[in-house]
Amino acid sequence: MLETHNLTVRFGGHVAVNAVSCRFEPGTLTAIVGPNGAGKTTYFNLISGQLPATAGTVHLNGRALTGLPASARTRAGLGRAFQLTNLFPHLSVLENVRVAVQAAKEGAHRRGMNLWSIWSDHAALTLRALEILQSVSMTAQQDAPVASLPHGDQRKLEVALLMALEPSVYMFDEPTAGMSHDEAPVILDLIRQLKKDKSKTILLVEHKMDVVRELADRIIVLHNGVLVADGDPAEVIASPIVQEAYLGKARDAT
Ligand SMILES: Nc1ncnc2c1ncn2[C@@H]1O[C@H](COP(=O)(O)OP(=O)(O)OP(=O)(O)O)[C@@H](O)[C@H]1O
Ligand SMILES: [Mg+2]
Repeated sequence: MLETHNLTVRFGGHVAVNAVSCRFEPGTLTAIVGPNGAGKTTYFNLISGQLPATAGTVHLNGRALTGLPASARTRAGLGRAFQLTNLFPHLSVLENVRVAVQAAKEGAHRRGMNLWSIWSDHAALTLRALEILQSVSMTAQQDAPVASLPHGDQRKLEVALLMALEPSVYMFDEPTAGMSHDEAPVILDLIRQLKKDKSKTILLVEHKMDVVRELADRIIVLHNGVLVADGDPAEVIASPIVQEAYLGKARDAT
């Protein structure tokens, strides 16, 4: 279980995330909604360790992550979607996934200079990488350099790399932002697949309410850095605070 307690960050006088206490259970997809600037991405940054908290704690399965760097939190099982800058653009799709699989199995492949074990480990890593590519329907592109992939495939590959790390928590921040109408369903399908594994905890920041309605088991609402609603999707969506926040957003956009 992932748990934040009084998690807070201050930028000068502005409290971007204000004493957010929340628990996220395995087998549950929690959507995090709220207007622009509500603190959703900042909350993710505090959980994943991209940003140090001013106050409060983060625990994963009872283990304190507060103060640990992002890399240590990744090793502990927190999976934040990769940015394209984390990929090796001139290596092939398969090689990129293999690097991620290898990173996840850190240590296990180092059994000394025995050529047979090095070869068999390499074969096992390749097999696992191919398995992951299969689950994201990208085996046909395995030899393509990442830089040559269309945008939608690059985004799919980001999810594949995340899966390679076998995290216990998946964190998606507007995973379909900037995607075309053809591309978005593919990513949503991947999240649907991940949901079937009941050992995984999934956090999804998403503005598109139709997506939230379909995927979320639970919704939490952030507003000015404060957690203002938490519960059953239908109830939370119908609540005045969400209606107001999203009507307010619509007004801003027009
Ligand atoms: N590094 C930073 N330094 C100063 N202020 C910041 C920093 N990061 C975020 N903020 C501020 O914190 C607030 C929350 O921003 P955040 O990006 O978390 O919102 P969000 O809910 O993700 O919004 P959106 O839906 O637009 O992505 C904003 O007022 C933002 O300007
Ligand atoms: Mg954001």
